[in-house]
Amino acid sequence: MNLRGPLNRPINVVVLGATGSIGQQTLDVIDRNPSRLRLFGLTEGRRSTRRQADYLVQGQAGDVDFDTQVEAMVTDPRCDIVVVAIPGARALAPTMAALTAGKEVALATKEVLVMAGDLVMRAAGERGIRPVDSEHSAIWQCLWGERRESVRRLIVTASGGPFWAHPDLDLDQVSVEQALNHPRWSMGPKITVDSATLMNKGLEVIEAHHLFAIPLDRVTVCVHPQSVVHSLVEFVDGSLKAQLGRPDMRLPISVALFYPERLPDAVPPTPIEELSGLEFYALDEERFPSVRLAREAAAAGQGRPAVLNAANEEAVGAFLAREIPFSGIVRTVEQALAAFPGGGDTLQDILEADRWAREYVRDKSGSLKTK
Ligand SMILES: NC(=O)c1ccc[n+]([C@@H]2O[C@H](COP(=O)([O-])OP(=O)(O)OC[C@H]3O[C@@H](n4cnc5c(N)ncnc54)[C@H](OP(=O)(O)O)[C@@H]3O)[C@@H](O)[C@H]2O)c1
Repeated sequence: MNLRGPLNRPINVVVLGATGSIGQQTLDVIDRNPSRLRLFGLTEGRRSTRRQADYLVQGQAGDVDFDTQVEAMVTDPRCDIVVVAIPGARALAPTMAALTAGKEVALATKEVLVMAGDLVMRAAGERGIRPVDSEHSAIWQCLWGERRESVRRLIVTASGGPFWAHPDLDLDQVSVEQALNHPRWSMGPKITVDSATLMNKGLEVIEAHHLFAIPLDRVTVCVHPQSVVHSLVEFVDGSLKAQLGRPDMRLPISVALFYPERLPDAVPPTPIEELSGLEFYALDEERFPSVRLAREAAAAGQGRPAVLNAANEEAVGAFLAREIPFSGIVRTVEQALAAFPGGGDTLQDILEADRWAREYVRDKSGSLKTK
């Protein structure tokens, strides 16, 4: 079904991870547009949305029952678009299933593109993927109507997270509560910790490279603490295009669901007078080496992006469980990448690299444990 042409019925939307931050905001967009969108199916993990739909799948990814029902839901001929918002590597299988069945995919889960970007983009083909991440939605919007050869570089903005503005803070000592206290966005715990380590930006550089087919060395990062400019594109003639707005994920969600239309009043407009004092800074890669690590892993390939992603997921989990210090997260990822013997680029190789990294981190994280 071509969602880019007119449909004479509401679009059937599946939401993977409906109880989460992105999931709830997607339900809000659906609820406010009943004549255009219909909740066709959803997944719930430990929490409940108390929603009804043609499919309601409850449980944990990796359980056979859950995975089988999710596959049936996302490949159902009546499903038009799948919003992927279950964090981490576990979102790869349903994303691939939806793409292979020819569905539109609105992707929030950047980890999917980090671990298997080439395979995912190949499965998406001409249709491509509709980004939900605010930075990538911004770049996508800046690229509409532009030729790829006119692009000089992509500039992904970073809020800097809770620690960037405090250079004297000892990152060995920061608590889980401090790391979860994001200055601008209210998000799930995994991405909030990734924002504090700046690994989120590393993942986003790889995500942008795959989504927009731009070489890694032409995807750059700058710190913009106000999170109003969601990202920029620099063109060969010297022009810069940016997309701006208040931090509100309902905008990129609406852009992804309604493309190529724009949904009237998706979010309240941003008064231009409020936009004074926007700041932009270079990223201090010494204090926050995650972006460099991510870039190196993606350039080296052969399963390393999957190792980066899986080691990071495990290390963030260990930090949230108060088993390792904050500074141990990136250290662990670096050690895993250094120890990885190298693999291949098939789906099986990637899954093997993912398994290897998780086992490596579980074995090694004992040595990083907080006292
Ligand atoms: N939040 C944002 O503003 C934002 C922005 C850009 C990109 N993203 C990306 O979007 C993805 C989702 O982020 P989020 O902030 O929405 O996360 P979140 O608030 O933690 O929500 C995660 C959702 O996934 C479900 N889930 C988690 N583990 C699961 C498992 N093992 N099996 C089945 N379901 C599981 C959760 O279910 P229960 O809670 O019911 O257990 C919940 O519905 C992440 O990849 C993130 O990087 C988020």
